[in-house]
Order: sequence, then C-alpha cells, then structure tokens
Amino acid sequence: MIVEFSDELLAKFAEVVARYPQGRQKSALLPVLHLVQAEYGWLSVDAMDKVAAYLDIRPIEVYEVATFYTMFFLQPQGKYMLEVCRTGPCCLVGAERIMKHIEQRLGVKEGEVTADGLFSWRGVECVAACGFGPVLQIGPEYTFYENLTEESVDNLINELKQKSQQG
Ligand code: FES
Repeated sequence: MIVEFSDELLAKFAEVVARYPQGRQKSALLPVLHLVQAEYGWLSVDAMDKVAAYLDIRPIEVYEVATFYTMFFLQPQGKYMLEVCRTGPCCLVGAERIMKHIEQRLGVKEGEVTADGLFSWRGVECVAACGFGPVLQIGPEYTFYENLTEESVDNLINELKQKSQQG
C-alpha cells in the first residue's frame, strides 16, 4: 500500500519528535509507528520507508523494530483484531476451544480478515491475565475480555458488529 502522510499526521509526528533532544529523532520511532498504524491499520513497506525518510534513519532500522514487536501488523487486519492468549494456563481452561469457536464463528483462519473487513483473530502469548482465562484482548486500547465462553465470544462479536454499524 502506497501512502501519503497527511498534514495532520505529519503534525502529530512533529509533536512526538519534539519530545526528544535535537538529533535524537530516532527515539520517536515507536510512537510514530503507532501513529501510522492507527491511521492505516497496518504498516506497509512504503509507510515504513516513509517513516525512515521522515526520521532520517535507514529503512532497515524501521523494519527491525516493526518486525520485532508483535503489536505492529505487517499486513492488513480487520478493524477488530481478537487476540486470544494461547499460553499454557489459558489452554488448560479452554483457550484452544475458544480459538476454534472464533474461527468457525468468523469463518476465517488465524491472520485472515473477514469479508466485511471487521474481524481478524490470532493466538498470542501470555497477556498477564492468567487467573482469568480464557482471555482475549482487542487493540488499539487493548481491552481485555476474560473468562471467555463460546456464548460470551458470540455476544462480543455481535456487540462489535453493532458498534461498527453505529460508526
Ligand atoms: Fe493466558 Fe497468562 S496464560 S493470560
């Protein structure tokens, strides 16, 4: 995806860069990438290259960061990314069953996007709510939904669909 950063977005970049000492604009990389992802939903190579140019660093320095942190998406995602903890304690209380249910309910495999563009899902490592599993989180606010059941997952999906229709 080819992007052209808007003046509004560039103003946000400038505000972030101004928090750091002159010549240390590379320190703004993480917050700038978050701003880009919030704007476009994911980080295309073109977007990362333009971030590199903006911060006057090498593209590889942006790729290294974007590929290291799992909160950055390197391909398009649904508006709502359901991230289900798949680490041991959550699996013991049904995380795999919940992921299977989400897959069937949404009709897409892990990492895919529903036809309406609303949902993606994936398994992630421990999200530090181990006493309340199975658990999922939804970014960018990383809202937690705990003690999941098939029914509560269905309700959540319905709520998100309604929320989306309301704008
Ligand atoms: Fe699932 Fe920690 S194991 S939140």
